[in-house]
Amino acid sequence: MSKEIEVDFGGITNDNCQQLKLINTTCFPITYAPGFYKDVVQAKNSDLNKFAYHNGYIIGAICCRVQDVKVLSGDNGDADAAVSSASGNLDEEEATKKVLYIMTLAVLPAYRGRGVGKKLLQSVLDHVNDADLKEKEGIQEVMLHVQVSNEDGVKFYTDKMGFEKGEKVNDYYTRIDPPHAFILRKKL
Ligand code: ACO
Repeated sequence: MSKEIEVDFGGITNDNCQQLKLINTTCFPITYAPGFYKDVVQAKNSDLNKFAYHNGYIIGAICCRVQDVKVLSGDNGDADAAVSSASGNLDEEEATKKVLYIMTLAVLPAYRGRGVGKKLLQSVLDHVNDADLKEKEGIQEVMLHVQVSNEDGVKFYTDKMGFEKGEKVNDYYTRIDPPHAFILRKKL
């Protein structure tokens, strides 16, 4: 990689949330609903939702949440989580596990390939790998959806960040083409 740049991290609040919208609009083909931004701000969790700053400018962001996902039947406890997960709304009878779900990770194009994405993601992985937190929260893996056509995104996660490519979810997205997603996951 060409030179890595230094970054600082900072939380996402009502006052700077507009910057998150700008980053997401620039970096993703989908439009995130107002509720997405509201939830990020209301979470008040700068360990899971944060900006990357370089020389005082916001150049990237990561947003994650902890959620329960269904464990597929026939699962041996070490296998895949169902994709129809939701935060809440799960049948009490069904086995679930806790995952850290990465909603968005984006770096402005001019700053890509300089280690910023890796630092943002690693900072969250370090946080959830903390032994005390792991015991308290019981988070077992990290997962995300990525559009099947996003080869760069898939490579970043699988080649460099130790994620495994899981199943393809057909028609995961409703307004972009192709609408299909891969699930990427990493056990903690
Ligand atoms: N192909 C291959 N390797 C790559 C690529 C790529 N396109 N991009 C980065 N890498 C490698 C780098 O070479 C580096 O490897 P090294 O440490 O051996 O030198 C490593 O991955 C880390 O790269 P960074 O520079 O930290 O990555 P960057 O800051 O460019 O951020 C990101 C990567 C976030 C994927 C960025 O390209 C981006 O914002 N893309 C648009 C949004 C997106 O696709 N987000 C991810 C999918 S959606 C989601 O996460 C929920």
